[in-house]
Order: sequence, then C-alpha cells, then structure tokens
Amino acid sequence: MVINQNSIPKITLPSGEKIPCIGMGTFGSDRFTPKQVSEAVAGAIRCGYRLFDCAAIYGNEELIGEVFENAMNENTVRRSELFITSKVWNDMHRKGDVLLSCAKSLRDLRLDYIDLYFMHWPFPNYHAPGCDGDSRNPDSKPFSTEEFMSTWRQMEKLVEMGLVRYLGMSNMTVPKLEATLPLCKVKPAAIEMELHPGFQQKELFDYCIAKNIQPVGFCPIGSPTRPERDKTAEDVVDTQMPEIVEIAKKYGVHPAIICIKWAVGRGQIPIPFSVYENEYAKNLQCVTEAPLTTEEMAVIGGADKNCRLIKGQVFLWEGARSWEDLWDLDGAIAK
Ligand SMILES: NC(=O)c1ccc[n+]([C@@H]2O[C@H](COP(=O)([O-])OP(=O)(O)OC[C@H]3O[C@@H](n4cnc5c(N)ncnc54)[C@H](OP(=O)(O)O)[C@@H]3O)[C@@H](O)[C@H]2O)c1
Repeated sequence: MVINQNSIPKITLPSGEKIPCIGMGTFGSDRFTPKQVSEAVAGAIRCGYRLFDCAAIYGNEELIGEVFENAMNENTVRRSELFITSKVWNDMHRKGDVLLSCAKSLRDLRLDYIDLYFMHWPFPNYHAPGCDGDSRNPDSKPFSTEEFMSTWRQMEKLVEMGLVRYLGMSNMTVPKLEATLPLCKVKPAAIEMELHPGFQQKELFDYCIAKNIQPVGFCPIGSPTRPERDKTAEDVVDTQMPEIVEIAKKYGVHPAIICIKWAVGRGQIPIPFSVYENEYAKNLQCVTEAPLTTEEMAVIGGADKNCRLIKGQVFLWEGARSWEDLWDLDGAIAK
C-alpha cells in the first residue's frame, strides 16, 4: 500500500514548518530485533511515512541509517522530505558527551543533520538495556534544574552548529517545564510524552499547547508489546476500553486505529510502532480517512483512566518513595 503524501494531514511547528501529523516509532521494546525494526522502517518509507522517532538507546540506529541511505540513493525519498528525530540517552548528559552522542547518532543514521533532537529523560539516571523492573542504579539522583540546563546548553550548541534543527524534551512534567523553560535560549519545539486514551495527561498537554510547543505522543496504542518491566496487573489495556471497542466496531476497524484517530484529532503527533506491514500501513492510512466525530472525540476524552504505563521506576534514586516521585504529582519537583 502506498499512501499519497498530499492526503496526509500536516501539523505546523512553532517555526511555521509543516510536518506529518503521524510518525513511526522505532523502539523494539527488547522484543523486536534491530533487523526487524529497520525492515519495518524500509517498508514504512515505501508506504509513505516520513517522520521516524529514533533514539540512541533503541540500539538500532545503525541499521535504520542504512535504510535511510538506501531510500535516498534509490530516490524513494529526498532528505528534505524526511523528518527524523533522535534522543540523547541518560548516560550521555555530561560535558562533551551530548556532542559525542549526537555525532554517533548522525554517523549511525548516516545523516548530516537530525531534524529534532530530544533529551530522552530529564535526568542522568541510567538503566542498562533489557534490565528488569526491580533494577536500580546507586548513582541515580533526583531531578536538578542545574544539571538539566547544563545538558540543554550542550543541545543548544548542536543547533548553533547546524547538526540539529529543533530541540525537544521528553518525559517532562509541568513543574519541570516551569523550572527550565524560562532558562532556555532555544525553546523546545516539541515535547514527547506518553499519550493514549487511557492516559491523556490533560494538564501537561494543555500546558504545551499554551506555550506553543508541539506534543508528540508515545505509546499511542497503549504499547501492548512494551517491555515486561513496564507491565503491572492494574494497567489499562487501551484496545479493550469499551469506548474504544464500540467506536472501532462502528467503523469496522481494529481498536488501535481508533486510538490513532483520537490522537490525531486531538492534535498530538502519535508515533505508533509495528513491524507488521498490514498494521503500520493501516496506521498511516487511517489519518487520511474520515476523522472521528466531535461526539466520538468527547466520549474518548471522557474515558481517561490516568493510567501511566511507562512508570520509569528503574530511574529512581535512593530515598525515593515510588515511581510517582518521577512525575511530580503534587505539583512540585520531588526531591
Ligand atoms: N520518549 C520515550 O521515553 C518513549 C517511550 C516509549 C516509546 N517511545 C516511542 O514511541 C513509539 C511507540 O510506542 P510503543 O511501541 O511502546 O507503543 P505503541 O505504538 O502504542 O504499541 C505498539 C504495538 O501496538 C500494536 N499495533 C500497532 N499497530 C497496530 C494495528 N494497526 N493493529 C493492531 N495492533 C497494532 C503492535 O503490537 P502487536 O505486535 O501485538 O500487534 C505494536 O507492537 C516507540 O516505538 C518509540 O519510538 C518513546
């Protein structure tokens, strides 16, 4: 299936640049190999995806870079038509490391520049790839505005150097944004955050819109294939929420499609992941078809379960009470 580019709705960034209203995720969730993910990226480019959400920690940028290079060499796509994100991982926040990390992503992705470069998490707390949910690092510390800004300053230099076009933050909270945004010389163009019908983060979403920052929604389908460390018995399954299932029946589509239509209708950029062509093709196709009605949007809007799936407990520091401390739930930055 090849989707006509003109039929894919666009989102306008604060700069005025228009980018696709949907992208493709590339995190293999410790379950899909770099080869499987990069083959899906190749298929997705052919199908019509232009926005790809990459990250150094996903461990597959080298193979994805090969795919980007081939697609450009074969004239399937021009560089200027692609919008590629990457992210600096938590163990590369120190002086000099951000530049090294960006350089490695550029080399691996075989690019001259990255369109949008995110700070993956707002602290240097590190976990090993593939670790389990009880894993803790004794060096982990609570969020520090000073440390965050020292990393952000290095990211700002990447923009000055022309290696990166836009900066982004990820896994932020309103209190952390209040502390950091006034100090930014280069404002974030986008904030990547967990967003799906069962976890709508209305306050953070509205805050970003008010500040003219584009929300990018990860786990848009509720991440059914997320790593085991990120699963608990209480977690909501978005594709089984009665409101989603009912609307999906009406349209004769998989509930995943309704999650994506809801995301696009709300104005966040969803970045669904799948290695299966029939899934990723339908995820793109659905944004070119009839949007959900105002009533359907309202029904889903009222179905929020406030159920965070990616709790981040592996990043907790000694003395932290629980994963909630990472998310500043009482309105102040947890110490
Ligand atoms: N910034 C961050 O900290 C952060 C954190 C997490 C994720 N992300 C990004 O967000 C992306 C997406 O998140 P995610 O992969 O965790 O979750 P997701 O996109 O919500 O869920 C992906 C899973 O949904 C299923 N699926 C996809 N399309 C479908 C369809 N049309 N019909 C039925 N099932 C479908 C597939 O599972 P089956 O194999 O069961 O079909 C797939 O593995 C990641 O790849 C990554 O790029 C960023």
